[in-house]
Amino acid sequence: MHDFTCTMPKIIFGNGKVREIGVLVKGYGRKVFLAIDPFLDRQGVTHEITGVLERESLVVFPFSGIESNPDCFSVDKAGCLAKEQKCDFVLAVGGGSVIDFGKGVAVVAGNPETSWKYTRRKDHSPLIPGKTTLPVIAVPTTAGTGSETTHFSVLSNPELREKSTIAHERIFPRLAVIDPELTVTMPSGLTALTGIDVLAHAIESYINVKATPYSKMVGIEAIRLVATYLPQASSNGRNMTAREHMAWASTLAGIAIAHANPTLPHALAQAAGGYIHAPHGGSVAACLPEIMKISYMADLESFGEIAVALDPSVSELPGYRCAEKSVELVERLFRDIGCSVRFGDFGLIEDNIERVTEIAMTGYFTGINLHPRIVDRDEIMRIYRACL
Ligand SMILES: [Fe+2]
Repeated sequence: MHDFTCTMPKIIFGNGKVREIGVLVKGYGRKVFLAIDPFLDRQGVTHEITGVLERESLVVFPFSGIESNPDCFSVDKAGCLAKEQKCDFVLAVGGGSVIDFGKGVAVVAGNPETSWKYTRRKDHSPLIPGKTTLPVIAVPTTAGTGSETTHFSVLSNPELREKSTIAHERIFPRLAVIDPELTVTMPSGLTALTGIDVLAHAIESYINVKATPYSKMVGIEAIRLVATYLPQASSNGRNMTAREHMAWASTLAGIAIAHANPTLPHALAQAAGGYIHAPHGGSVAACLPEIMKISYMADLESFGEIAVALDPSVSELPGYRCAEKSVELVERLFRDIGCSVRFGDFGLIEDNIERVTEIAMTGYFTGINLHPRIVDRDEIMRIYRACL
């Protein structure tokens, strides 16, 4: 068994908790940089949350100019704004892009350099965010990224057409407020893709060569919950039982990847997704089954346990057959939720494969190295072709 450390953010979970946000965050300072999803801003949510915060005498600087796959230059501008306004902490309300954006703002506002210099890449040693990094409080509005319980901020660099990650405990949210009611308005397609992201986090952290008993414990529970509740949440978004369990699955899977990083599917999804600006869940869904197909032989025990979590009726199968079954069960889940995407759907073409392979091997080498099956450049190119 590897040595390991457990780190848990403070989690407040429950329907309607967002309405208590003023009381929940007021101990973190007086000036709030509120990073909020532009869709929620258009729905008047910024106004509502600002009102709740102001009732607790907090000063709010709302910021909603946030795109999906947040870019490092926008983060830098917003971070400078938060620094100028002497904000005490960042409150991020939205999906993974918004929370990752908020974490980047917290780094830039509390440190001297631009955000990209803090990202983890093969061609330079990342700068370390200092103690002055602003505290982050996260309120997710999707059940997907798990960013509310991780120390990762994935940023895009549009000049390089690459994504990379700030990974440091100082951007671990101090508080995650999980309110399943916030996920009710997610349309079926988004529910499906964000749900597959949850599944991928759980599976990848489970098969990670450095998985720990703790990451495995939370990951396997997330897989069980996704198998039962994702089809229900996807077919009826008003099913609160399904929404609550998916919100919890997302939280657990986030905790799992905070303790055992994602592996090959996320490495290849991030590299391609950053290059063609594809939605994160879609990029992950495009390659997860194919990568499982070529990987289960490398860790029959873990893949067998994943299969049983997806469908307990396969538990009597022999080990090899059970592990193999995990691929079929994930493909069945994809069919059940109507999820069928390929990288080509988001604009990736054959001519891009060499470049995105380079990006994966440069910016996402950690995930590649933690995958149970060793893959080289030719194998990565083959996977991209198979998922095109
Ligand atoms: Fe993800």
